[in-house]
Amino acid sequence: MSTKNKSKRRRVGPAVPKQRKSGWRTEIDRVLITEAQLARRVKTLARSIERDFRGRETVVVSLLNGTVMFLADLIRHLNLPLRLDFIGVSSYGMGTESGDLVFTKELRLDVRGRDVLLVDDILDTGKTMSRVLPRIRALGPRRIRVCVLLDKPSRRIEKVKADYVGFKIPDLFVVGYGLDFAERYRNLPFVGVLRPHVYEKVWKEVAEK
Ligand code: PRP
Repeated sequence: MSTKNKSKRRRVGPAVPKQRKSGWRTEIDRVLITEAQLARRVKTLARSIERDFRGRETVVVSLLNGTVMFLADLIRHLNLPLRLDFIGVSSYGMGTESGDLVFTKELRLDVRGRDVLLVDDILDTGKTMSRVLPRIRALGPRRIRVCVLLDKPSRRIEKVKADYVGFKIPDLFVVGYGLDFAERYRNLPFVGVLRPHVYEKVWKEVAEK
């Protein structure tokens, strides 16, 4: 069959009705940061980090799980010899508020005397960072620099700040590019704003239990 016919075929048939669209299309209000914007910014962040870490013994410490996409993109642009390790930490709060912090994985690499680049997806209230930083400091690194993809300064409770920030954002409920709501949406290639009906429904269910 000719290509011409094939393309003709694709155009016939009923379009998928809007109301039958499922998944994130009905749950994401809008894209806040596009895939292209993310890619550009991650590259420029990597350039700044490279300049500051050149010639040092670098250990990149990434906080699980939200950093998965950001970290993968960032370190592939870091033209530096580095070691990579993870700290597992999670706030088991449901929704937008950070709940109690639980450490699920400790650092295994020796960071004593080394330069640590601590990577997280978002700096929100700062509770996570304010618990993680003293833990790493206690291991005797030469210095720690903090790199976050997103910073929501208006929500800060703890006095922490990041040395490298991808994007400062307003107080919106964002998901995608590693960030989740109830463990979903991490795989979206962009950062999007979640529609309130999605998290309000989950909060209601939790409150009724
Ligand atoms: C999120 C995010 C940060 C933290 C920021 O982690 O990854 O680590 O919250 O919030 P804070 O500044 O208010 O402490 P979460 O506990 O949701 O785990 P996750 O990385 O597995 O999504």
